[in-house]
Amino acid sequence: MTWLAQLGRSIRGNGRAFAAGIIIGFAIIGGGAAIVLPPWLLTHRSNLPGEAAYGDVAVSLAAMLHAGSSASPVQASDRGVIERGQYAYTGSCAQCHGPAGDGKNGALSKALFPPATDLTSGDAKEKSDATLFWITKQGLSFTAMPGFAGQYNDQTIWAIVAYMRALQNGPAKALVIPTPTGGQLAQANIAGDAVARGAAVYFAQGCEACHGGSGNGPGELRLRAISTNDAQLSCVLRNGPNGMPGYDTATMTDAQLRDLIAFLRTLAPPEQPRVPRAEATPAAGAPQGTPSPRPAGGDRQSYSSPASAQPGFAGCSGLG
Ligand code: HEC
Ligand code: HEC
Repeated sequence: MTWLAQLGRSIRGNGRAFAAGIIIGFAIIGGGAAIVLPPWLLTHRSNLPGEAAYGDVAVSLAAMLHAGSSASPVQASDRGVIERGQYAYTGSCAQCHGPAGDGKNGALSKALFPPATDLTSGDAKEKSDATLFWITKQGLSFTAMPGFAGQYNDQTIWAIVAYMRALQNGPAKALVIPTPTGGQLAQANIAGDAVARGAAVYFAQGCEACHGGSGNGPGELRLRAISTNDAQLSCVLRNGPNGMPGYDTATMTDAQLRDLIAFLRTLAPPEQPRVPRAEATPAAGAPQGTPSPRPAGGDRQSYSSPASAQPGFAGCSGLG
């Protein structure tokens, strides 16, 4: 006898069971709705009535509570600040908000709902610096907008805010980061030698979003001959200077950091006389772990400026 027939019999025979049946029925319907509703909420492609307005009020209130009316401690007129903001924006925001901040032409712009906001719109212009700071630091829950508290220190987030303001006040010359080539990507191999594993870390962490596939980013983002020792380099990578994100141990283990440094040394080898290098011999048994051949020395010989000359690394100098 099926449970339905059993239920029917007890409904006929007994009022209490009938009530119980109704309750069970509602529970089943409610359970079904609970399963159906959240995916629908995630996929619906228009704002529910009041959703946008409510979101805006909630964000503004939260920003006021947490950020207060704090004024930016960085000088927006300082070229270095705008530059740092631009580096960070280009590597961490442009893929969604677009290089010009208008929500267009980012690699992910079309894939998002709600869509990445036009940061140059009247709405965003009206927001206070403190609100923009808070949104960037904490992110917006239930949207694709991530928080950057774990990656950027407050100084850099204020620099990003200054750069958003610069974008609102007029078009900025977009920073064009070369897209990694297939050959560069093919260097990555998590089962390979330290250099190949390091290449995998480099691409997995998105270093190429700023530095290009082989450290060939524009201007300051080009990885030049790195004269710092491993301890200083680790400090740079963990803390992130001048608009670079910091990578803590939760994001990147010490072992991954060591592999990454091995890879970086191949991108930006220390100064050395320019002699044709023999092709690196692969570690025995390492499957496709060989770095793809690159021109010996490449165009790197011209980058001789010592890392110590760069501001912002002061916090990492003086290390063993
Ligand atoms: C993965 C995609 C993604 C990335 C990366 C991203 N954002 Fe967003 N951001 C969004 C989305 C989506 C929204 C809109 C959320 C909504 O509709 O409320 C948003 C909203 C915002 C807002 C609120 C604008 C307003 O007027 O309401 C600000 C400010 C913002 N982002 C700044 C940034 C900054 C600065 C960065 C980089 C440090 C960044 N975002 C990186 C997806 C992203
Ligand atoms: C959002 C952009 C961004 C990302 C992502 C990024 N960096 Fe940087 N990086 C910078 C900036 C900006 C600087 C400082 C440039 C300057 O001031 O000269 C820098 C500096 C460096 C330096 C020091 C260069 C030197 O000459 O001493 C190294 C090494 C470096 N980055 C490696 C990495 C690695 C490895 C990753 C990934 C784990 C990474 N970066 C991710 C922006 C970024």
